[in-house]
Amino acid sequence: MAVGLSPSPLSQALTQIATDIDDEFDQLLSLPGDARDPLYAAMRHAAIGGGKRLRPLLVTATASLFHVDREVALRVGTAVEAIHVYSLIHDDLPCMDDDDMRRGKPTVHRAFGEATAVLAGDSLHALAFEILANPGTHADPFVRSELIATLALASGPEGMAGGQMMDLEAEKTTFDLPTVTRLQALKTGALIAASVEMGAILGHIPPEGRAHLKGYARDIGLAFQIADDILDVEGDPELAGKALHKDADAGKGTFVSLMGLDRAKQQAAMLVSQANDHLGSYGSEADLLRAIANYITERDR
Ligand code: IPE
Ligand code: IPE
Ligand code: MG
Ligand code: MG
Ligand code: MG
Repeated sequence: MAVGLSPSPLSQALTQIATDIDDEFDQLLSLPGDARDPLYAAMRHAAIGGGKRLRPLLVTATASLFHVDREVALRVGTAVEAIHVYSLIHDDLPCMDDDDMRRGKPTVHRAFGEATAVLAGDSLHALAFEILANPGTHADPFVRSELIATLALASGPEGMAGGQMMDLEAEKTTFDLPTVTRLQALKTGALIAASVEMGAILGHIPPEGRAHLKGYARDIGLAFQIADDILDVEGDPELAGKALHKDADAGKGTFVSLMGLDRAKQQAAMLVSQANDHLGSYGSEADLLRAIANYITERDR
């Protein structure tokens, strides 16, 4: 009788990963007790207590397909989240989106000043690679170097930073649909795809064995950014924890501006179903990945 009231495996997994990632950052970022304290405080402000932790959840959910030790997957998930948080700090800066709220709190430059915010982003960027290079994260140096290469590629000009550059251009030019698709794949898709790929690397799956998972990751990555753009139009800023209605005001080319809301929603739903098709060769062990795909378009934050 109480069955209907018990939390779903997905909501349990979201709650658990939030606690675990908070703990990881808490341990990594204790205040040194010297003049660097404001930098550490800014990093903690951004990294602890908020966010859906979707990327670490993708790492742990993929790694669990291959029975990888959860502690190891959590460390790798923390590295991906560190890159994501750094990208949010810089994305919110006055020179970029100029936002005041993030994850229901003042943005880092609002709380700590612009210079400290830049340094907090820089330091989280470095922290990600420090975690991956640490033998305590994974004993095998070949696995460590593949993790580092994967995250580096997804973060730089071939990934997130490249997508952010295209996003700035999208305020000045009207991109066509293939170009906006590429923008989204780089800006958001690359880090989401890397999260899944890093789970597979931890599982010692060789590149030729990762095709289905890569297909899944590519489709949910695109669906995720379309959902973010839809939320920007019709979401609730209280729930989202950030200002919305920014894209149209900035005259930014997104899926929604190009296709309209209804077709953007259809496109996101199609991508989620296509993502789940890529998991066809897996059984119930991939149910969490399936639930994550569905959550991406159903979420309200
Ligand atoms: C927001 O990412 C920025 C995008 C890449 C669209 P998330 O929606 O994952 O933000 P958090 O981590 O939950 O705050
Ligand atoms: C930011 O995209 C993506 C990043 C790489 C940080 P947005 O600018 O759309 O993200 P929000 O809406 O501010 O979270
Ligand atoms: Mg932006
Ligand atoms: Mg933004
Ligand atoms: Mg957005």
